Formats: sequence, structure tokens, C-alpha cells
Amino acid sequence: MSQFILSNPNFAPMVGLVQLNRPKELNALNLELMGQLRDALVEMDENPDIRCIIVTGNERAFAAGADIKQMAGKNAIDMLKIDQFSTWDTIRRVKKPIIAAVSGFALGGGHELCMLCDMIIASETAKFGQPEINIGVMPGAGGTQRMARVVGKVNVMELVLTGKFIDAQRAYELGLVNRVVPVELYLEEATKLATEICQKSPLAVQAAKESILKAYETPLQEGLAFERKNFYMLFATEDQKEGMAAFVEKRKADFKGK
Ligand code: HXC
Repeated sequence: MSQFILSNPNFAPMVGLVQLNRPKELNALNLELMGQLRDALVEMDENPDIRCIIVTGNERAFAAGADIKQMAGKNAIDMLKIDQFSTWDTIRRVKKPIIAAVSGFALGGGHELCMLCDMIIASETAKFGQPEINIGVMPGAGGTQRMARVVGKVNVMELVLTGKFIDAQRAYELGLVNRVVPVELYLEEATKLATEICQKSPLAVQAAKESILKAYETPLQEGLAFERKNFYMLFATEDQKEGMAAFVEKRKADFKGK
């Protein structure tokens, strides 16, 4: 089997890099590739030397969607039995922050994978879209749900019902990406962002990520209660003592993740 994933935990200090590597098929997300992506992310989530993860593709494509050739002959029961979304659910449970570094096509499942990540750095060549409607289906990995929460009803309707692509600038205006940078800088910019997050207390980062994601799943009062508990819990960490002592002593904090 081809090696689709290149995992390099030493890419930058404490940053894990996962590169989707099926370039001839524009990184179409077949089951093997998604399985390898899941395994790489879970491994990095468990690796105490890694504090932040970047998922990227190549200059031409982040990922052009689920593999249409693999799905074409399937019926509903085949799809149900394959249960591909359990892989997506596992990725959703990764505790460390994941940044998508996107250049070229991020379509269908590729765009949904971006939205499953926590932050997105886009090259100015990036193109986003949910073109499933053109092949007789619709988004299935969060395209209608996650995007509706970000861009609002009228925009998600237009994108999903027409299947048209938008460029990186439009994605930025809609709040779908953090920023847009020249193509030669997208991975560097993602690494900078990841490295910055790596300097923080990993316990605080994980608790904050968990709390922010709750905001998309709970009513406000429940979310606030969840946030409060995570806030209190962080006072049990050495990192809280170190962070606040460093502030008082006017020095840089050295967080150990304890
Ligand atoms: C399988 C794909 C693919 C895909 C591209 N390829 N996208 N194979 N599944 N999603 C393959 C092409 O068949 C081709 O292989 C090679 O990659 C290069 O693609 P071209 O079409 O020749 O390139 P280009 O003309 O530049 O067009 C690029 C493109 C187009 C606009 C991105 O490939 C395209 O429209 N792709 C499909 C996009 C899409 O519909 N995505 C949504 C999929 S459904 P060969 O061997 O023929 O040369 C989905 C549902 C998600 O994502 C559900 C949850 C997971």
C-alpha cells in the first residue's frame, strides 16, 4: 500500500505535521487515507512531545473531497456498513489543537476536514467549496452543520446548493479561515501559529479547546458551566502557578504541562 501520510513530529519543536500525500488524485480522501490520517493524529495526540498539530496537503490540493471513484458503486447499506464517519468522530476527539494549512483545492470532504480542524491558514491560491450537489449528493461530514454555524444560513445555502467554489479571500470574508497568505508562506504561517500556541500551557490549551468546541454543541448556560469547571480545574495545575508567578516576577513563563 502506498504511504499516504508523512508524519514528522520533528517538523518544528513540539509541532506535529501530517501531510496528505495522494497528489495524483488531488488528495481525494479514500478510506485508507482517512484511516492513516486518524492514526497519525491519534498518535500525535498521545505523544507528550507534541503540543500542536498541522494538517496540510500540497500546493495544488489540500483535498478535493471524498474519493468519488471509491463511492460511485456503493448503495446506502454499503455506506452505512463502511461507517466512515467513525474515523471523523475519532479525529473530532483529538485534544490538541489542529491547524489546517491549505493551498489549492479544499472541496467537499476536504473542506469538511478543514472545518473539523481548529484553525485554518489559507494560501491565496486556496479554493473552497461543497460541490457534492453536482454529483447528486450533499455534504455528509459536517458541511451543512459546521458551515451554517460559521457563515449563516443564506451563505451556506448558496454554497451547498450551487456547489460553486470560493477563493481564499471570500472564505476569509465569510469567517471560514483565519488568514490568507501568499502561497509560498502558508505552511510557514501555520507553523508560526502552531509554535506560538506551543509556548502556552498545554493543559490550558486543551481545556480551552474543549470549552470552545462545547459552545457549538450546548445551550449557553450549560456551556458557561462547562467553561467554569475547566477554569477552576486549571488552578490544580503547576502551569497556573508558574504562569501567574512569571507575570508577577516579570519573566517569561516556562510551562511544563503539569
Ligand atoms: C476521486 C478525484 C477527486 C475525487 C479529483 N480526482 N478529485 N478522484 N475523488 N474527489 C482525480 C481526478 O479523477 C483525476 O484523476 C485527478 O484527480 C486530477 O483531477 P482533474 O479533474 O483532472 O483535475 P482538474 O481538471 O484540475 O480539476 C480539479 C477539480 C476536479 C476541480 C478539483 O478534480 C473535481 O471537480 N474534483 C471533484 C471535486 C468534488 O466533487 N468533491 C466532492 C466529492 S464528494 P484521473 O485519474 O482521472 O486523471 C465528497 C463527499 C464528502 O467530498 C462526504 C464525507 C466524507
